[in-house]
Amino acid sequence: MVVDRFDIDANETLTIEALREMQLERLRGQLRHAYEGNAVYRQNFDDAKVTPDSLQSLEDLSRFPFTTKVEFRDNYPFGFFAVPQDDLARIHASSGTTGQPTVVGYTKQDIATWAGLVARSIKAAGGRPGMKVHVAYGYGLFTGGLGAHYGAEELGCTVIPMSGGQSEKQVQLITDFQPEIIMVTPSYMLALLDAFRAQGVDPRQSSLKIGIFGAEPWTQEMREEIEQAFGIRAVDIYGLSELMGPGVAQEYAATQDGPTLWEDHFYPEIIDPETNELVPDGEEGELVLTSLTKQASPVVRYRTRDITRLLPGTNGPMRRLAKITGRTDDMLIIRGVNVFPSQIETEILKLKQLAPHYSIEVWRDGALDKVSINVESRDPADDHTARKSAANLAGNIKTFVGISTNVDVVAPGSLPRSKGKAARVTDRRKR
Ligand code: DLL
Repeated sequence: MVVDRFDIDANETLTIEALREMQLERLRGQLRHAYEGNAVYRQNFDDAKVTPDSLQSLEDLSRFPFTTKVEFRDNYPFGFFAVPQDDLARIHASSGTTGQPTVVGYTKQDIATWAGLVARSIKAAGGRPGMKVHVAYGYGLFTGGLGAHYGAEELGCTVIPMSGGQSEKQVQLITDFQPEIIMVTPSYMLALLDAFRAQGVDPRQSSLKIGIFGAEPWTQEMREEIEQAFGIRAVDIYGLSELMGPGVAQEYAATQDGPTLWEDHFYPEIIDPETNELVPDGEEGELVLTSLTKQASPVVRYRTRDITRLLPGTNGPMRRLAKITGRTDDMLIIRGVNVFPSQIETEILKLKQLAPHYSIEVWRDGALDKVSINVESRDPADDHTARKSAANLAGNIKTFVGISTNVDVVAPGSLPRSKGKAARVTDRRKR
């Protein structure tokens, strides 16, 4: 696939100088808006002895204080809004599994900006006006469903607002309505794969050509798995509720080399999460994002907890994110070794006898961390074959990830399936 001109809008092809100039101007406005419109930001800026005028260059942003999820929660529900309530067109919230959800507001203009960025994202993924888009991200307070929906409409596509769940019906509607594009979490796409097979429908014969997958980490191996199974091109969409929702960054189908961060609306920094110091482009660390154009909920230096690197742009000056394979809070420390669940996914999918369905449990036996992994075999396997695959996987994890694990290979279809974002890890150790 080659990038045609339709993939690109004017801001994607700015010169680097023009982009930086636009960012600086927008950032100045955004900091002033946050400071003047929101009491939490004003307090935080005052405490850090900065004012919006302290920003003379983009580098000066590092003098401003971070914003964290904890602060969002402490100021529940509306403490981070910066416009009067009359100006709010919509409210979304992220379903924190613990504590208060984080609440984000949108003006009409914010919704239009968001729809424009998701439209740009779908275009980058190869979508075109007139195509049908099956949206299987959840609708509701979660930003996935409505974010994808407004973007697809903005691009001129026909939206099928299916939401998550009812896998059998999803297969029927895909078969009957013939969408070219599906937008869904990669783990729920695997559940749909089961549903295709259970109904005796060949997934490779479906009308789908493009999958726009995000909202959770997924590996390169998982990309190949899904592309093979459905005969589609799978691209990565990144976003988070606190900043907007899906469409903060999107991978081009033509290059599949990590999501391009839409830098005309979000300014990225990477920091060392231990020291909070900036690290240079190309080095791994925690992504920190600042919104440049938001009205209702401006965001200054938000600690995303997502671990990635900033890479040079491929289709213009906007930088790419290296595929996000983990979050600081998903990282397991096993007897001193740092492990991301995605590293285990990679090892599982390298073995062709094993299916992409697994669960990881961590607990403590006396002073020792123990890890057990349940993984399905692709085809029904006798005890001997299952034990052999288990030993292979444990051996590879020891060699390539550096930890000892107890692996059980279980029957196809025996592990629970994702309903949206996958929950594959249970950590029973006391934190
Ligand atoms: O998941 C927004 C979204 C919806 C993105 C649909 C893409 C598609 P939250 O529920 O707030 O928002 O979760 C945000 O999910 O900080 C990452 O840890 C993770 N995440 C999102 N996209 C990706 C991705 C939505 N492409 C959190 N790769 C983020 C890896 C992702 N992780």
